[in-house]
Order: sequence, then C-alpha cells, then structure tokens
Amino acid sequence: HHQLLPKNCPKFFDIVRKAVTHKQLSTPTTAGAMLRLFFHNCMVGGCDTSILVTSNTFNKAERDAALECPGVASCADILAVAAHDLIVAVGGPTFDLRLGRKDSLESKATDPENQFPLPTMSLSEVIKIFTSKGFSIQEMVALVGAHTIGLSHFNQFSHRLFNFNKNSEIDPAYNPDYAAGLKKLCQNYTKDPSMSAFNDAITPTKFDNMYYKNLRKGMGLLVTDSAMFDDSRSRPFVDRYADDEKKFFQDFARAMEKLSVLQVKTEGKGEVRSRCDSFNTLNN
Ligand code: HEM
Repeated sequence: HHQLLPKNCPKFFDIVRKAVTHKQLSTPTTAGAMLRLFFHNCMVGGCDTSILVTSNTFNKAERDAALECPGVASCADILAVAAHDLIVAVGGPTFDLRLGRKDSLESKATDPENQFPLPTMSLSEVIKIFTSKGFSIQEMVALVGAHTIGLSHFNQFSHRLFNFNKNSEIDPAYNPDYAAGLKKLCQNYTKDPSMSAFNDAITPTKFDNMYYKNLRKGMGLLVTDSAMFDDSRSRPFVDRYADDEKKFFQDFARAMEKLSVLQVKTEGKGEVRSRCDSFNTLNN
C-alpha cells in the first residue's frame, strides 16, 4: 500500500516498523501518544513537524531511520509512517501514505489555539476547525474514533465529576455507573495530577469501533466525546460506526490519508531535519 519509497533507502519502512512495534510491546502507551502527536502535527500548520518532536517514544524510530538513511526521510515522513504502523499494530486499518514531506525550517508563529480542537470547545467550534481544514462532519467523527485507544489526563474531564453545575454534581451526559467508576479512580487526583484514564474504558488498547458504542452508553470521556453523540449533526455517524466497524475502518483510513497530506511542504520549502528535536540551523 505504500507507493513511494524514499530514494536510496529501500529498508526505510522495515526500520520504522520494527522500531515502533518493539516500542509498543515494551511501552503500550506508545500508539496513543504517537497518533495524537501526528494529529497535532498535521492540524497545526500542516504535517511539517514545525513542532519539534522531543517525545522519547519517537526517538528509536528516528535514530534508526537516520542511521540507515541519512538525509533521506524527513521527520514528518517518519512520524507519519510510525503513526500508521502503530495503528496497524493495535488492530486498526492500513492506509496509503505518500512520502516526500519536508520539515519546517522554523517553529510556527501562528496561533495553535484556533487550529487545534480542545475539549472545552463547543461542538460548533470543533466542527469549524475541522471544516477549515477541509474535513466534513462525517470525516471528523471518523477521525475522533482514534479515541478508541490512549489516555486522557484527569484535568481534561475532572470538572464533569465534581460540582458540575448548580443542579448536578456529575455531568448528566455521563452514564452514572461510569461516572462513579471514574470518580473512584479520580480520588487522589489533587495529589497526583499526572493521573489519567483510558479514553475507551472497555477495550482500551485495541483499535476497534468500541469508542462509538461507548458514546451511545454515556461513556464518552471528554465533553467533546459526549457531544459527538448528543448533537444531531454528528450522531448519525456515531450510530453508523457503532453498528459497522468495517465502515468505520474504511472512513477512518480515507480521513487519515487526507490528514497525512494537510498543507505539506515539498521540495524547496523545507529541509530534511537531521534531528527531529531541533532545526538544522539555529538562526531563528
Ligand atoms: C474532536 C476533537 C478532539 C479533541 C477535543 C481531542 C482532545 C483530546 C484530549 C484533551 C486528549 C487527552 C490528552 C491528555 O490528557 O494527555 C486526547 C487524547 C487523544 N487524542 Fe484526541 N481530540 C480530538 C480529536 C482527535 C483526533 C482526530 C485524533 C487522531 C486522529 C485524536 C487522537 C488522540 C489520541 C490517540 C489520544 C490519546 C493520547 C495518549 O494516549 O497519550 N484525537 N484528545
């Protein structure tokens, strides 16, 4: 399914796949962290690693690829291939990846606030961000199915569990049993703010359509997750994907192909960075 091999480096895909699959086996949080990093990278100014990748889940793939193929694959390409391979490793669909992204020469001055969705935003605001990047509501719902894996820190949702509003201690969008479970898990949160919960409480490490089934049961962790089901603009797609995993995989794969080429830089507009955590020249 990969059409373009980087020049002079036929082993590129093997190298990245081996590195990330090993990492996933030893550190099962890798897939979620990398997928979110990839999403973030492509949404904010295009898939050009204008955010410097310091994540140590990425280090081995980067180092191995750079050793075997110096100057060939950009950090943006390595990140895309790593995210793809990790999705496949945890049971998700494959998709086509084009290569040849260049890395950004500088960190973006543009304000990421308006380009990246936050759980504190209304669904209308979230839809606006996806639409501005060329995604339909259906594609947005398919992409957020990525929350079938990975973790969220408590500060992203704890307000839904304590003093939610005047009328209710707990966000009524939550299933009461689910909320009680989260609350128990949350007990020591003020002492340990690094605590997190699985986005998908039922099959947390498997890439499947459980996220959508959870939404129908009031088990969406973030406010924006619950909103996907509560809002009539997105609910039909939640229902569709909850009922049909094959359809979810197809639509997720197409949407990922689209995400992976958002505003990419090509020849002349960027560099192949030798280290993904710094720019080649430090003049900016
Ligand atoms: C609808 C808009 C979205 C919002 C508001 C949102 C927000 C969030 C938040 C707040 C977290 C928790 C971060 C943390 O506490 O460390 C998270 C986790 C995650 N998100 Fe999203 N997200 C959205 C869409 C997406 C999309 C489209 C993808 C990928 C295609 C994605 C992939 C992930 C993954 C994989 C994680 C788990 C990260 C980990 O395990 O470290 N999200 N998201």
